[in-house]
Amino acid sequence: MFEELEAIRKECENCQKCALGKTRTKSVFSAGVPNNKIVLIGEAPGYNEDQTGEPFVGRAGQLLDKILQSVGFDRKENIYICNTIKCRPPDNRDPLPEEKKACRDYLNRQLEILKPKIILLCGKVALTSFIDTKEGITKLRGRWFDGPNGAKMMPIFHPSYLLRNQSHEKGSPKWLMWQDIQEIRRVYDTLK
Ligand code: URA
Repeated sequence: MFEELEAIRKECENCQKCALGKTRTKSVFSAGVPNNKIVLIGEAPGYNEDQTGEPFVGRAGQLLDKILQSVGFDRKENIYICNTIKCRPPDNRDPLPEEKKACRDYLNRQLEILKPKIILLCGKVALTSFIDTKEGITKLRGRWFDGPNGAKMMPIFHPSYLLRNQSHEKGSPKWLMWQDIQEIRRVYDTLK
């Protein structure tokens, strides 16, 4: 599993399938532990990720780690983290359709190797990459959907959105995230 993934990582390091290959500092392939249980898919690398080559290392990433750790998930131990595209869009704009299309094969291959039983779609770009819907993340978060290879997929809020919405009150985005991560842990604990 590990060697196959490392081969794709190398391909991404040299990739020129879209224009982001010219502007990236580093491609950002994955963090965490390859496993067949739980994979989180974010949006795209930002400034810090582009510099370091690791997903979710900026402020949003630190919050994500705290959320995951609150129920015992840890990128050092038991969760694999990647993004819908591997290179940073300039000025952190949303990935363009042609960038997502060019990069999709890498993500598909990652999922094909891992065959995770749970896939977390973190934010609207990940959501719309896997679920054909006009509904937004606010409506769909917290629900389970059928994913590739029989995976259960759940859309969840992106931590950047939570950083902009600091309330912890019942019904707030942070409160909803807390409900979702507990539900995710509950289902994770039923996995063999
Ligand atoms: N936001 C994402 O969606 N992914 C990252 O890797 C960093 C920030």
